[in-house]
Amino acid sequence: MRSLKAILPAVFAFSCCVAQAQVKSGDAKMNAFVNTLMGKMTLDEKIGQLNLVTSGRATTGAVVNNGVEAAIKKGEIGGIFGLYGAEKVGKAQDIAVKNSRLHIPLIFGLDVIHGHETIFPIPLGISATWDLDLIEQSAHTAAKEATAEGLNWVFSPMVDIARDPRWGRISEGSGEDPWYGSQVAKAMVRGYQGSSMKNSDAVMACVKHFALYGGAEAGREYNTVDMSLIKMYQDYLPPYKAAVDAGAGSFMSSFNTINGVPATANQWLLTDVLRKQWGFNGFVVSDYTAVNELTNHGLGDLQTVSALALKAGLDMDMVGEGFLSTLKKSLKEGKVSQSEIDLACRRVLEAKYKLGLFDNPYKSIDPAREKLDVLSDDNRKFARKIAEHSFVLLKNKAQTLPLKKSGTIALIGPLADNHSEMLGTWVIAGDPNKSVSVRQGIKNVVGNDVNVLYARGSDITDDSLLSARSYFFGMKQVKDGRPAQQMIDEAVETAKKADVVVAVVGESANMSGESSSRSDISIPESQRDLLKALAKTGKPLVIVLFNGRPLTLTWEDEHASAILDAWAPGTEAGNAIADVLFGNYNPAGRITATFPRSVGQIPIYYNHKNTGRPFNVGDNAKFKSDYLDISNDPLYSFGYGLSYTTFNYGEVKLNKARLKGNETLTATVTVTNTGNYAGEEVVQLYISDPVASISRSVKELKGFQKISLQPGEKKSVVFTITTKDLKFYNNQLKYDWEPGQFVVQIGASSADTRSAAVEWNK
Ligand code: BGC
Repeated sequence: MRSLKAILPAVFAFSCCVAQAQVKSGDAKMNAFVNTLMGKMTLDEKIGQLNLVTSGRATTGAVVNNGVEAAIKKGEIGGIFGLYGAEKVGKAQDIAVKNSRLHIPLIFGLDVIHGHETIFPIPLGISATWDLDLIEQSAHTAAKEATAEGLNWVFSPMVDIARDPRWGRISEGSGEDPWYGSQVAKAMVRGYQGSSMKNSDAVMACVKHFALYGGAEAGREYNTVDMSLIKMYQDYLPPYKAAVDAGAGSFMSSFNTINGVPATANQWLLTDVLRKQWGFNGFVVSDYTAVNELTNHGLGDLQTVSALALKAGLDMDMVGEGFLSTLKKSLKEGKVSQSEIDLACRRVLEAKYKLGLFDNPYKSIDPAREKLDVLSDDNRKFARKIAEHSFVLLKNKAQTLPLKKSGTIALIGPLADNHSEMLGTWVIAGDPNKSVSVRQGIKNVVGNDVNVLYARGSDITDDSLLSARSYFFGMKQVKDGRPAQQMIDEAVETAKKADVVVAVVGESANMSGESSSRSDISIPESQRDLLKALAKTGKPLVIVLFNGRPLTLTWEDEHASAILDAWAPGTEAGNAIADVLFGNYNPAGRITATFPRSVGQIPIYYNHKNTGRPFNVGDNAKFKSDYLDISNDPLYSFGYGLSYTTFNYGEVKLNKARLKGNETLTATVTVTNTGNYAGEEVVQLYISDPVASISRSVKELKGFQKISLQPGEKKSVVFTITTKDLKFYNNQLKYDWEPGQFVVQIGASSADTRSAAVEWNK
């Protein structure tokens, strides 16, 4: 353990005090330390701390290129992202700690989004577990691997609410619901940061993208966001706020505008809301070149926008070097103040302090742990478990699933014998070659008990534009080379020889994720043609679906016997899928984003308003809020998912019919496993507020419990409801509840509830 204090006693002995008017943190020791250090720093060194570079630019051959090495030595770099591996990070840290004037350690970040080297399901899949302990453990496991490789900062969790599945980054979040999204946000922050960020297996979380990034118009990436304040506060901001409450150490500003001002230069957002209203005391980094992009937004040249961003409350500039190249000039010209630069520098240094980097800049660089903790058997076991828990059984006609562990199956589809697409989007360190294909997983789970016939059937897509756009950085779709019809014919012949067809189809890993918006969110045509031909054989057709977003599946829902939504399951994909297909685990995932019937219904989400002319199922009247050509209902509603068993819900029983003030209400429902398998059920609590001073959502999720039941077993599930669950933002943005009637609804999904009403007065 090399301590920076040992390396440079002079810095620590220095006792001059810097004014700390704006320091809010109560940590006197940290303040004293940072004051002392800042008292030694030149203006250039302070601005250097605000500069985050990427290893994309920074690395060539050895660790960092000459330019970056020189910049680190001059104190012009505060952190590096994209560099990982104990040895490499150690060498880069050496440059800063041993060769820069003040020996200030670098912070090392990375996009660790759903696991580091051991990859878990994409976040949308993880959210479908409805298991906060598992979710927290996924973040902790990722932190353990990441720290072993020298990292101390992860650009996660992404907590952007998304109600438009055209937007590719819906895959990186927890879906559409603010309450559930808040629980996931807290669990992730806890998992990453642990009990103290000083722990050698803890990283600092970076909550993104602040804010409202998921509200991009038309689901088009990086597009304008224009939203009412009530909608922001009620539906989009809660998960960010929850992450602050959980102690998140850093935030990332988003690319989009908010009330006309891009988030990265938005003082109301970065200072008034984040710091003054919510009490956030960490630092804010921009998204990748987001400062420079303010120029395209129309806010001025690089010097102007860099000053705007700093003044708004942005502390660190990712990649664009606008801060580095212009702030000194702006200070001279009176466009920014010394105290604004100091404040940003202080926040970055505080983050390093909170991480314990001044005590030991190498604290998490541990080659021994790197060997033990990265892709360990335990981590792979966990990846298999969380993948199984993330799968959602969307359809299961006549109990097609689970499959028998005997007979012949035809395993078909471009994703059936594939490694490279198993990990999903945003996988920096994950190695596709270490992932388990579905074909291999089936072999691992049933060995020779089942005769598995295989045919590829189609390419992922024959659309050359879609193919070119969904592979980048030199990657290409691996195509079969045979004509489409020949592949389909072979698949059909294979299907005819089997008892059941398992078609593994859907989106490739990067058809979702950043810069992957789609206007057509169906399964690509080449695969749809394959499915149609397979359906014609009359064999039971099981679809194992890969998808980074809700897809439009009306044809599949009508023609398949079963659909298992596997998202992008990660390193253990094939093993987890096989476990579920053959009944070793009974699926219990529930969707956290609504699946529309068609793109025309988007945006679509369960907690919508009623409108003045609501459409009721069965109406065939004019002048209602509906479509001429499609129903309002989604194909699969928020919270939906089946099991191999069935559950019966009794009536909702309330302990009181009338309440006053701060009394608490308990709502109880009995759930019985009425099928033949042990299984888990996600019992969901929704509340609606039919009369209020503003139009409220038809219902809002306020709780859930995941329970396990043996066949025939029943359990009473009790929810405690307080006035906290009744609160909302009124049109003065006051957060309170209003007396009157409330309807408590409990059930298996947002569209399948039983209810009981209660009168609650002040
Ligand atoms: C993305 C962020 C990411 C950053 C760094 C940006 O393009 O929007 O989510 O953390 O790049 O890789």
